[in-house]
Amino acid sequence: MESKLKCLPINGTDYIEFYVGNAKQAAHFYQSAFGFQPVAYAGLETGLTDRTSYVLRQDKITFVLTGSLTPDSEVAEHHKLHGDGVKVIALWVDDAKQSFEDTTGKGAEVDFEPRTESDQHGEVVRSSIKTYGDTVHTFVERKNYNGTFLPGFIAWQPEYKPEDTGLLFVDHIVGNVGWNEMDKVAGYYRDVMGFEQLISFDDNDIGTEYTALRSKVMANDNMWIKFPINEPAKGLKKSQVEEYLDFYIGPGPQHVALATNDIVATIDALRKRGVDFLHVPETYYDTIIDRVGEIDEDIEVLKKHHILIDRDDKGYLLQLFTKPVEDRPTFFFEIIQRKNAISFGKGNFQALFEAIELEQQNRGTL
Ligand code: FE2
Repeated sequence: MESKLKCLPINGTDYIEFYVGNAKQAAHFYQSAFGFQPVAYAGLETGLTDRTSYVLRQDKITFVLTGSLTPDSEVAEHHKLHGDGVKVIALWVDDAKQSFEDTTGKGAEVDFEPRTESDQHGEVVRSSIKTYGDTVHTFVERKNYNGTFLPGFIAWQPEYKPEDTGLLFVDHIVGNVGWNEMDKVAGYYRDVMGFEQLISFDDNDIGTEYTALRSKVMANDNMWIKFPINEPAKGLKKSQVEEYLDFYIGPGPQHVALATNDIVATIDALRKRGVDFLHVPETYYDTIIDRVGEIDEDIEVLKKHHILIDRDDKGYLLQLFTKPVEDRPTFFFEIIQRKNAISFGKGNFQALFEAIELEQQNRGTL
């Protein structure tokens, strides 16, 4: 019998780096709309010539917004092709060299070899491998570092610091991949990283009469890293995953789910700051008690804030999805509060699909 693969040791998500058209303005959006706090900066003033980066943080979530300073930088090329999107899903590890050797030894493609960067706060070792599309996983070893982010960055301390919105950590990150590529990408996480599959559902589970998708969830051994992988499935009209692939020009991260302990307060704050969420049909709440049973929250309050509810055999979860946060209909966020549930809201996919189709119809892309 084949022995079980050892899972790559990962402590959590280290940071998520977005390549964007205008990092300065994107950073302002994540401050003002989402309540992220300014942490660090790198650019011309720190000796960079091709890019500028703003680092923001909310509890355990770190975002890096990076824009190009030249027309031919890697950032500019990426942005020209994909628009604003996630480039780096960085993973916090104890040994970045070992992580690199383990994964490349099992077939991962190299993004960059292990490198050590240092400043007065110590040293960080990073290495990086490729995953679906142009997305990469950078391994970050920071056990010998006590600075706020990475060597090469300086503190960014503007006076403008809107309050946080109660976001705590990255719950999961979903990747959209091409037709019939889901098994290959799920296999990559199994064979290269030693992840295991959590739950699977097929297009009979997720889809309306028109559009459909298939999904597999890959997770590491401590379950702190969860990567659902979607592929489009045939429907009467264009799948939402296909729409993403058309506009992102290939596979890429579809959404990042951010966890909160008080979803009503978080959603309320985000709405007041101008974050747009998917429309949830009023009829969604007509049968909700039949579907999810008793919950701690007042259904009327959840209905007022248009928050979705789903249950699995471990508990239930509350969630809601933003509209795309950039010009192209590609990347969006999920806000999630888990009440012991370990699933991803499969029961809400029907309501979600209908809402998404309405959006697609308005964009003329169905
Ligand atoms: Fe999700």
